[in-house]
Amino acid sequence: KRGNKRKRDEPAEPQPPRDHEPIQSKKPAPAPPLLEEEAKPEAKPEEVPQRSLNKTAPKGKPNNKPKPLTDTKTNFTSLREKASILYEQRKKLPIFGHADEIRTKLREQDVMLLVGETGSGKSTQIPQFLVNEFWCRPTPAKVPQKDGSVKSMTVGGCIAITQPRRVAAISLARRVAEEMGTPLGSSSPASKVGYSVRFDTSTSPSTRVKFLTEGMLLQEMLHDPWLTRYSAIVVDEVHERGVNVDLTTGFLRNLVSGKREGRGGVPLKVVVMSATADMESLLGFFQEGFKSQPQLQNGEANGTAEEQKDEGSSKQISVCHIKGRQFPVQTIYSPEPVHDYVDAALKVIFQIHYKEPTPGDVLVFLTGQETVEALEKLVNEYAVGMDPSLPRIQVLPLFAALPQVAQQRVFAPAPPRTRKVILATNIAETSVTVSGVRYVVDCGKAKVKQFRTRLGLDSLLVKPISKSAAIQRKGRAGREAPGKCYRLYTESDYLTLDETNTPEILRCDLSQALLNMKARGVDDIVRFPFLTRPPREALEKALLQLLGIDALDESGGISEVGLKIAKLPLTPTLGRVLLAASEQGTECLLDVIDIISCLSVENIFLNTTSEEKKEAAEIARRDLYRREGDHLTMLSTVRAYAGENVDRKAWAERHLVSHRAMQSVMDVRKQLRSQCRQAKLLPRDDRLDQHFDTSPVPILQSFLCGFATNTARLVPDGSYRTVVGNQTVAIHPSSVLFGKKVEAIMYNEFVFTNRSYARGVSAVQMDWVGEALAGQ
Ligand code: CDP
Repeated sequence: KRGNKRKRDEPAEPQPPRDHEPIQSKKPAPAPPLLEEEAKPEAKPEEVPQRSLNKTAPKGKPNNKPKPLTDTKTNFTSLREKASILYEQRKKLPIFGHADEIRTKLREQDVMLLVGETGSGKSTQIPQFLVNEFWCRPTPAKVPQKDGSVKSMTVGGCIAITQPRRVAAISLARRVAEEMGTPLGSSSPASKVGYSVRFDTSTSPSTRVKFLTEGMLLQEMLHDPWLTRYSAIVVDEVHERGVNVDLTTGFLRNLVSGKREGRGGVPLKVVVMSATADMESLLGFFQEGFKSQPQLQNGEANGTAEEQKDEGSSKQISVCHIKGRQFPVQTIYSPEPVHDYVDAALKVIFQIHYKEPTPGDVLVFLTGQETVEALEKLVNEYAVGMDPSLPRIQVLPLFAALPQVAQQRVFAPAPPRTRKVILATNIAETSVTVSGVRYVVDCGKAKVKQFRTRLGLDSLLVKPISKSAAIQRKGRAGREAPGKCYRLYTESDYLTLDETNTPEILRCDLSQALLNMKARGVDDIVRFPFLTRPPREALEKALLQLLGIDALDESGGISEVGLKIAKLPLTPTLGRVLLAASEQGTECLLDVIDIISCLSVENIFLNTTSEEKKEAAEIARRDLYRREGDHLTMLSTVRAYAGENVDRKAWAERHLVSHRAMQSVMDVRKQLRSQCRQAKLLPRDDRLDQHFDTSPVPILQSFLCGFATNTARLVPDGSYRTVVGNQTVAIHPSSVLFGKKVEAIMYNEFVFTNRSYARGVSAVQMDWVGEALAGQ
């Protein structure tokens, strides 16, 4: 690859245009790197852009300016100009005055707990405060290997910032790259800032600051348990308390408080950041870690007695509080309970637009993709008939499964005389900062994963949010000026909400977490340092599930299959399906990848469950529907979409398929294919698409290898009863098998609304189910 040969610290030379692009301008003079790699410890990195800018773009000498390149990604001068403008904004962030305090504390202590409200600048500024610290440089070290030898290698040099969500990791990386005046990720070998999320990694050989999801950090730890390339790990948004953040903190506690031989004695700094003030439990958690380990400095033990350990633990951890900047936000409650919050939100949006003279964007919190898309449609329909003297309305959806390009549109400022209306899931609660918001509409609910022990699987439930989440949502209206928050629930309902979110580890399927721990060599799960200990019952269920898919051997240790699954960016069950398909041959694997890609988005079909739309959908999708069920229907849809060479958008509209969802499906499909190639499950062949009509049987049987327990059989009264647990379950109205009677069904998801529904359903034979269960 071009540029990879360049040494790390060579000047950040603008990348030449690609081979096929016409060269339109003279190559500009190379500009010095923006970051001073050799900065002294006392240097203030946040001043670096300013100084470098003054050096490189002297005022009053326009002739010295290099001509702009056609490719803005590589135009370092414009990158620096932008960085200098942003620097003025950064200086105003509440965290900015704390830079020295944070640096000083982290020079002395390895762990910092940092509390600061959303928008105070934690995620964007902390990596920039730290990247030029002396301890953040790549350090030569002698690292003992498993075979007893010692290897000379470089340890550290990079900062990782973990995020619970993909969208936040990408948008933060983009923002920090802009602030540091460096290209983003893989767009240039000189880029200092990159990101890594499931199905998408963009880094360069010079990456020093990397935003990544917690899941990706856990994946990296499978290959590099000591995180040797990092000098610091910043764990952001710990208050969200997803399972992965709990695992990350557990592993990190062991890393910072334990021995450092795997890092050649080089310390690892850990910063744990939260938007809510409850740091007591985290402080106790890390202190406990230091207490239970002998204190080490530079690889040497320096204290063993209990008192010394106690003293050591408090010395190792510092706490920093950033006072946020919050303007007053007026709360307006619904006078009576709301039954249809989509309809209520629609009314409030137009009430704001018509009656509120103060400009400002509207941020609406809804429960999921379906409600977001339903409201998007309604707002667009009503906006057509709006008084033309009013500003225009630009509706922007924001949910996790949205294709990246669409997600990023939310962050662009509204065009002139336009009010942005952002329709978001709880993704916008703390994870992402959208500027310009003055009005928040909160439906008071969120979709949460809930483990249903009797069924032994996760289901998505719409549940009331916690008080703490309601406060966060409200706060989004007061970031830049006073704002208003419309709560689509009554004040007495608010008072009944739980104080905080229940950690996910207490309410979800733990099989992925458990597999990750097992793959990392944690054999004794009971002794793992959990921030909150999961219920024993859920751990046992997860163990059984992993045993059922052969991911663990009989003694409870990780099996070869388990190791392969752990390295795939999929849930253990889907990972198992993928492996089973690979055993059936390349064609089956390709088909299964297509189906799994569809399962990674919420719904590829536009919502047509209402009676009048149902018929239209039947006709529009006639050639896609397969009588075998939803899995094969997804496959025929992906094939038809991928085979459409003229206008995919028009094709999707004709078939009432979500073009947006299909774009995401294609992204995931590409990534999964590439990972399967890397794992040598797929051949390196570009002509992969030239196959047709694989038999459905091996595909469905592969799925049964992961989903044998997600099956139900038809009973004489015409209903379906789950094979495990004997529960009544109905086929979801969105399924192509809705209303059909078949011998047995296999499903991907169990949804509980007013009754129990199976979603993502296919017809299977009971003897296949029997075989799959017997194989477990
Ligand atoms: O982490 P925390 O919520 O404390 O703040 P942050 O994410 O560092 O955001 C600080 C400021 O950076 C925000 O108020 C935005 O003005 C800006 N920002 C942005 O413009 N785009 C992003 N993707 C992230 C932050």
